[in-house]
Amino acid sequence: METTDAVRVADAYRQIDVDLGDRSYCVRVGAGVRHSLPELVAAAGARKAVVVSARPAEWTPDPGIPFRALRARDGERHKTWDTVIELCRAFADFGLTRHDVVVSCGGGTTTDTVGLAAALFHRGIQVIHLPTSLLAQVDASIGGKTAVNLPEGKNLVGAYWQPRAVLCDTEYLDTLPDRERVNGYGELARCHFIGVDGIHRLPLVEQITASVARKAEIVMADERDSGPRHLLNYGHTLGHALEVATGFRLRHGEAVAIGTVFAGRLAEALGRIDAARREEHRTVVAGYGLPTALPADVDDGRLIDLMRLDKKAMSGLGFVLDGPRGAELVTEVPEKAVAECLARMPREQ
Ligand code: GLY
Repeated sequence: METTDAVRVADAYRQIDVDLGDRSYCVRVGAGVRHSLPELVAAAGARKAVVVSARPAEWTPDPGIPFRALRARDGERHKTWDTVIELCRAFADFGLTRHDVVVSCGGGTTTDTVGLAAALFHRGIQVIHLPTSLLAQVDASIGGKTAVNLPEGKNLVGAYWQPRAVLCDTEYLDTLPDRERVNGYGELARCHFIGVDGIHRLPLVEQITASVARKAEIVMADERDSGPRHLLNYGHTLGHALEVATGFRLRHGEAVAIGTVFAGRLAEALGRIDAARREEHRTVVAGYGLPTALPADVDDGRLIDLMRLDKKAMSGLGFVLDGPRGAELVTEVPEKAVAECLARMPREQ
């Protein structure tokens, strides 16, 4: 296996090692990597497995040990505490012990929910993720954040629980509807501004690898999101507000794309970057076929209220913004500057 800085390149796949001491794991990216599941399950030393899949049975390889298959459903609607309880009860019914393993196969909502059930069952059982959406491969399944939604808000109940391994099989992506694929590009576009300069010019498998490698680097520096991990939320302050304000009509990656364009405009308005760099935000996002304009029907005041609730902002308005030292968290951004930038954003017709 050839080794570059952070990525090991084998014939059939790329491997990124997330080094977190006794919580370390590998992420493999490539066509057919799901077939290394039995090897990784054997390395985990498990006797039994529960395989929770939102995809057809033939998409999930046999883990190579006795297992029970459970159906999951992708989507924010199913990312609930009730689903976590159902999963934990099924794990108990099958007699999983804390030495066994759970496998998740699906989009980010499935890896998040199964990850949380794994974090809680027997106070923590090994989990291997097989993310099937582009969004989950480039971001959601890496880094150990697990959560479910409450009626009061998104991702309000969760835990940090690092997986045992993540297998990003690019063959899964061939079946994605166009809109879902473009949705994943939203998290790739923002990588150009958080340390993966020129990511949009790479072949897709290299983009996934580069995004995972950058995320691994950031998570290794700040596993619990108390500093540099904020960088991953580039474009997300407005992005999260747009998801809520549109009742999730805008998908996460689409909302982050608009939020990235906005972050460029706000950074320019605050004198942190020049007009050319602001325009680069728009061209990178548009180049992926992602939206760059605000939906016609969202109210700016409502967006500002929602942005005040963002987890990054202890008080006031906080954004990750580009600048002379690269991207960094900027807190206490004046509301007037935010309101003016929102008012000048292009609107969908
Ligand atoms: N998706 C942002 C994070 O994992 O921190």
